[in-house]
Amino acid sequence: MAVSRVALVTGGGRGIGRATSLLLARRGLAVAVHYHTGEANAREVVQRIEEGGGRAACFAADLAEPAGCRALVEAVGRSLGEVLVLVHNAGEMKDCPVEEMTDEEWERALSLHLGAAFRLSRACLPAMKRAGWGRIIALSSQAAFTGSARHAQYAAGKAGLHGFAYSLAKEVGPVGITVNLVAPGRIETEMVLDRSAGRMEEWMAQTPLKRLGKPEEVASAVAFLASEEASYITGATLHVNGGQLMS
Ligand SMILES: NC(=O)c1ccc[n+]([C@@H]2O[C@H](COP(=O)([O-])OP(=O)(O)OC[C@H]3O[C@@H](n4cnc5c(N)ncnc54)[C@H](OP(=O)(O)O)[C@@H]3O)[C@@H](O)[C@H]2O)c1
Repeated sequence: MAVSRVALVTGGGRGIGRATSLLLARRGLAVAVHYHTGEANAREVVQRIEEGGGRAACFAADLAEPAGCRALVEAVGRSLGEVLVLVHNAGEMKDCPVEEMTDEEWERALSLHLGAAFRLSRACLPAMKRAGWGRIIALSSQAAFTGSARHAQYAAGKAGLHGFAYSLAKEVGPVGITVNLVAPGRIETEMVLDRSAGRMEEWMAQTPLKRLGKPEEVASAVAFLASEEASYITGATLHVNGGQLMS
C-alpha cells in the first residue's frame, strides 16, 4: 500500500483550518492538525478523520514564538512522517489603532503571520527537497491588498507573506516545490462573525456574491493548490472572496 503524504495544517482545529484538515484527509493525505489553545477542537478533527479511515494526529504550538515552529515540524516528522504539504493557516486578528498599538502586539502579529511562514517553511524544506516534491500554501487575506483600519499589524503581516512566498517560489521551484497563497475575503468563522454585528449590510454591498464565504470554499482552494492538478502553479495568489476584490 502506498504511504500517504503528510500535510501539516496550522490552526487546523477550527474555521478554515478545520475544513482544510478534513478535506485533505478525504483526499488521502495524513494530516497533522496543529492547535494553540483549542486542544478539544483539534482532537475532534483527528477523531473525525480517523473515523473516516484516515490518518491524523494533533500537535500543540504557539507559532508566534520562534522556537515553536521547528519543534512542531520535528514532532510531526516523528509521529506521522515528514511534512510534504505545509498549510500555514493559523492567524489572529486583534482590533487596535496604530497609535495605541504596543511594540509587543506589532511584533507578535508579524511573528505569527509572517515569521512563522518563514520558520515553518525553513523547517519543512529539507524533507521536501529530499522528496523532490513539496507544497507550501499560506493563508493571506484581502487586507494585504486593501488594508484594514485598526488591523495594521495583521495587514502588514499578510502583505509580507506575498514577498516571502514569491521569493521562496523562485528559490525552490527548480527542485519541485511550489509556493502559493490563498487570500480569503470574509468567511464565516469566529474571526469574522465576532466583528459582524451591525456591519452585514455594508459588507454585502461590497460583495457581488452577496453572502459570506464558507470555510469549505477556502479549503477547496487550498486542497487544489496542494494537489497534482496544480503542478504548474507557483508564486500565485488565489483569491476566494465572493468578488469583493477585483484587480
Ligand atoms: N475568516 C476570514 O474571513 C478570513 C479572511 C481572510 C484571511 N483569513 C485567514 O485565514 C486563516 C484562518 O482564519 P479563520 O477565520 O479560520 O480563523 P479562526 O477561526 O479565528 O482560527 C484561527 C486559528 O489560528 C490559530 N492560532 C491563533 N493564534 C495562534 C498562535 N499564536 N499560535 C498558533 N496558532 C494560533 C487558532 O488556534 P487555536 O484555536 O488552537 O488557539 C485557530 O486554529 C487565518 O490566517 C486568517 O488570517 C481569514
